[in-house]
Amino acid sequence: ETAAADASLLLDWYDRHHRTLPWRTSPADAALGVLPEPYQVWLSEIMLQQTTVGAVKDYFTAFLARWPTVTDLASADEDDILKAWAGLGYYSRARNLHKCARTVVDEYGGRFPETVPELKSLPGIGDYTAAAIAAIAFDEPVAVVDGNIERIIARLYRIDEALPAAKKPIKQRMGDLTPQERPGDFAQAMMDLGASLCSPKKPACALCPFTGACAAEAVGDMERYPVKAPK
Ligand code: ADE
Repeated sequence: ETAAADASLLLDWYDRHHRTLPWRTSPADAALGVLPEPYQVWLSEIMLQQTTVGAVKDYFTAFLARWPTVTDLASADEDDILKAWAGLGYYSRARNLHKCARTVVDEYGGRFPETVPELKSLPGIGDYTAAAIAAIAFDEPVAVVDGNIERIIARLYRIDEALPAAKKPIKQRMGDLTPQERPGDFAQAMMDLGASLCSPKKPACALCPFTGACAAEAVGDMERYPVKAPK
């Protein structure tokens, strides 16, 4: 099977099974190819760095109601941001959030930059978050790799190297698999698959859009992947 065919299988699955989340566009907008606001993608991805989807939802909605644009957030009092962040943990994220908002306003005229290198130069934005914003907000076909996506890719291709050495071949494979069309939906489809069917234990392969294409499933050895270095 070609990468393009595998990517379409997953996008078709996503169209039927995606999670409705407050930082995603409505299904009607998504069908028209409308991309979500970069500010909302950035805010959600920072919140999701060390916090679960379930815990982030209400905070995301509250932040957006109080500070609807990056300019509003940039001019907020940092203590108010920290108070609104209370409960999410890892408070350096909240300080960097404010710093990043000010940088976007002061140095980019209030518009987020669109490339991975420029995004990575901003406070609080590392490899993963830069790729996620570029793909989801700007339609850039870059490889987005989080822990769930590592597991899916390691299984699909039976990557026998152990983490962290496996990170490089995994990113390469994700890059090869990422389609030119709908790269942001593709990344989020991988996230949804990793959060549901492609679980660490007892994955639901019978329901998976990649069934038949997955090398680990073919040999019945899904739980071996991703291979961890011995402690
Ligand atoms: N985890 C991190 N980013 C996410 C997103 N955009 N959708 C779902 N889960 C995520």
